[in-house]
Amino acid sequence: MKTVNLKRNKIFAPLWSAKQRYIVMLGSAGSGKSVDTAQFYITRLLNDVGRNLLCVRKISQSNVNSTYNELKKAIYRLGVSDLFTFKSVPLQIDCVNGNQIIFGGMNDDGQREKLKSITASKGNITDVWIEEATEITQADFEIIDDRLRGILPDGLFYQIRLTFNPVSSSHWIKKVFFDRADKNVLTHKSTYRDNAFCDTAYYNRMERRKITDPEGYKIYGLGEWGETNGLIFSNFIIEDFNTDDENFDHIRYGQDFGFNHANALLDVGFKDGDVFVRREIYDREKTTDDIISFCNWNKNVPMYCDSAEPDRITMWQRSGFNALGVKKYPGSVSASIDWLKGRKIHIRPECVGTISEINQWRWRKDSNGDITDIPVPFGDDAMSALRYACCEFIVGEPLPFSKPKRKIYNFSFEKPIADYDKEEIVIL
Ligand SMILES: Nc1ncnc2c1ncn2[C@@H]1O[C@H](COP(=O)(O)OP(=O)(O)O)[C@@H](O)[C@H]1O
Ligand SMILES: [Mg+2]
Repeated sequence: MKTVNLKRNKIFAPLWSAKQRYIVMLGSAGSGKSVDTAQFYITRLLNDVGRNLLCVRKISQSNVNSTYNELKKAIYRLGVSDLFTFKSVPLQIDCVNGNQIIFGGMNDDGQREKLKSITASKGNITDVWIEEATEITQADFEIIDDRLRGILPDGLFYQIRLTFNPVSSSHWIKKVFFDRADKNVLTHKSTYRDNAFCDTAYYNRMERRKITDPEGYKIYGLGEWGETNGLIFSNFIIEDFNTDDENFDHIRYGQDFGFNHANALLDVGFKDGDVFVRREIYDREKTTDDIISFCNWNKNVPMYCDSAEPDRITMWQRSGFNALGVKKYPGSVSASIDWLKGRKIHIRPECVGTISEINQWRWRKDSNGDITDIPVPFGDDAMSALRYACCEFIVGEPLPFSKPKRKIYNFSFEKPIADYDKEEIVIL
């Protein structure tokens, strides 16, 4: 017998004893969902022999930097690393008591089929953690839900946890889990203010956003479903389409550089007036060198980049890419948005960065609450990349892009301390 010391944000305590089949955790970014979920599963797996956890991301590979990493960190934080072994091919974590954690994705039919047949070495898969659950479709969810069936030994039950930040209120998760009562469902909401461990810089950034972007703050800060009212694009469809080059009249890349913000690189096809987002590289905290090293895209395709960063453009050119800076002129942002609004934008389901942005990118509201024609300058990295990719086709002037002017504010905020529990958990 061994005891572990656990620090747990109070807001999540009720979820630890919940028996519902579906635990649906909506929350603002930084509310502590992922850390709590990882700690929860580690203690559950240590205590309940016969349980196996399947972690799902839309793109299987994304598990490495999210679910797998969180679970590994939780194992070390709880001081139980002697009770687990880690494998990277295939990604897997084994507990000494025979329980297992396995990982899967829903990116294409291959991954879906794999997930349908995936098994633990002992007993059933009893638990599923779907991280960033808004990325998966309702059909994907049904496949996962279907995996959890069959009679279980006494005391065990099936449970699926969905963790995500809210997106538009038209999302299927809202319809299925929030808009109707169901005794099998436990919905839960948390915000960064509920996280006693939220770092001060992040906290202040959120507080700043409350003033600079009240609409976005409702979603990112308060964890509320986004209104579709005021969204810049509604003319898009998320679907599988054939990405072969010969299906398009033109192909262009667009890139908005970033490090703390996402670096967004989009591969866009054009056909009969429609726009097709075929692939994306959407990453934070990656250097230009990192991104170049894993970008195996066709180097001949014109790649239109943010002209504010000529050094980075040069790096891409030196690596053989046909990188160019987009030209900027006043009114160019609106021109490119107007152009894009006039056509249908098709997006492949695995382009999750683009999908997440297009679902939230909205017009700023003025002090009367009326919608202006200025886009909110948050979460617009893939949107800029998309605009850049189209620049050659916008008739008239050479392509111009200028970022919306950012106002300078002075802020200072006191961070309230949310409560957390310190608990000792006995491991059998
Ligand atoms: N129980 C906890 N113990 C220690 N740090 C925590 C805890 N919960 C949250 N944190 C801190 O808060 C940050 C945000 O939590 P995270 O779970 O990633 O938020 P979310 O998944 O809701 O976006 C983490 O990176 C971690 O630093
Ligand atoms: Mg998270």
